[in-house]
Amino acid sequence: MSNPNLCEQIARTIQANEQKRISFADYMNLALYHPEYGYYTTGAGKIGAGGDFATSPHLCPDFGEMLAEQFWQMWQFLGCTVPFQLVEMGAGQGLIAGDILGYLQQKYPDFFHILDYIIIEKSPGMRRFQAQRLARFTGDSAKRLRWCSWAEIEPESIIGCCFSNELVDALPVHQFVIDRGQLKEIYVTISEIHGELKFVEVLGEISTPKIAEYFAELELDLLGGKYPDGYRSEVNLAANTWLKEVAQRLNRGYLLTIDYGYQCDRYYAPSRHQGTLQCYYQHRYHDDPYILVGQQDITAHVNFTALERYGKQWGLENIAFTQQGLFLMALGLGDRIAAISTTPGLDIATALQRREVLHQLIDPMGLGNFGVLLQSKGLTNEEIGQKLTGFTIPPMR
Ligand SMILES: C[S@@+](CC[C@H](N)C(=O)[O-])C[C@H]1O[C@@H](n2cnc3c(N)ncnc32)[C@H](O)[C@@H]1O
Repeated sequence: MSNPNLCEQIARTIQANEQKRISFADYMNLALYHPEYGYYTTGAGKIGAGGDFATSPHLCPDFGEMLAEQFWQMWQFLGCTVPFQLVEMGAGQGLIAGDILGYLQQKYPDFFHILDYIIIEKSPGMRRFQAQRLARFTGDSAKRLRWCSWAEIEPESIIGCCFSNELVDALPVHQFVIDRGQLKEIYVTISEIHGELKFVEVLGEISTPKIAEYFAELELDLLGGKYPDGYRSEVNLAANTWLKEVAQRLNRGYLLTIDYGYQCDRYYAPSRHQGTLQCYYQHRYHDDPYILVGQQDITAHVNFTALERYGKQWGLENIAFTQQGLFLMALGLGDRIAAISTTPGLDIATALQRREVLHQLIDPMGLGNFGVLLQSKGLTNEEIGQKLTGFTIPPMR
């Protein structure tokens, strides 16, 4: 069932609009991030086995640990700079942060002690949850972690790495459709159906010139006859705003983005005529964002080409792109799988379960097919030329 308070707030926003409609991006933003009733505001327990969907860190700590190995190597490549800032954006339940910090504390204490770990998290509910889970890294004895907003971070100040896992797919997207040879935007309005108020879609003119600029940047000709009538998809303008924020704060170092998505040609393949929007509720997915409002996640795949092209505009260099499966294998996941059979005292059921979760992280039909994009700013050619271990297996395009 939808959250009636959230529906009322969305309906009020629609009513307050002169044209009695809001863009799909505004609808998605309210559904996920309304400050009182949004999906990500009202409870942090929605990710994981008992929630609606699980991300890599919910399977096992190995994901965060292998990322920690990669960050340690970045620190080496940047000449063991002090401090090294590790900025995690959209930290969910704080699992990755806990796994990274715990691992570094044990394995690389010198790196751990100079680390300045910053979380940037939009949802206050998630922030509270993270603060509880990560309390051991915020006390006076081991103060390695803090929370910031972008406004609190000085321009050109970050030396280190900014990273995210499944953040960009959670940003609100605009939706468009090709309607009888014209590009139209999808808006959300209210309609009375069988005596009940429902959110329904209406088509209108494109709400912002940034959408046309986006297609021009990607050299995508949607009206040239290649796309069928009724073709619909998404445009993630919020990802561009986010990239700009990151690039402006980064002085010297890396941006690592892990998410599901495609390069532009696959993202906007004419055959993908219904786009990539998906909703998750109790580990089932479907494509109706107008049910279970506030109770289900809404996501869209990431267009990695757009991140690369817009990143360049904001001064980021594209260093490498690979798949999560290859990234983790290069960082030693194969060794971790092999070590299961020689781990003393591990009973067979636990061993099989561990093998299963490690395989899930690299499954080419699932998490293994996620994209991993590495960008940088302020590095010398020599520093860019140093190949990070996670990117040493050639990607499958
Ligand atoms: C799908 S969850 C992923 C959580 C975590 N990274 C993981 O892998 O489990 C997306 C997270 O990003 C947060 N988020 C969404 N938009 C954000 C933004 N603009 N800035 C920072 N955090 C954001 C959400 O509140 C949520 O914590």
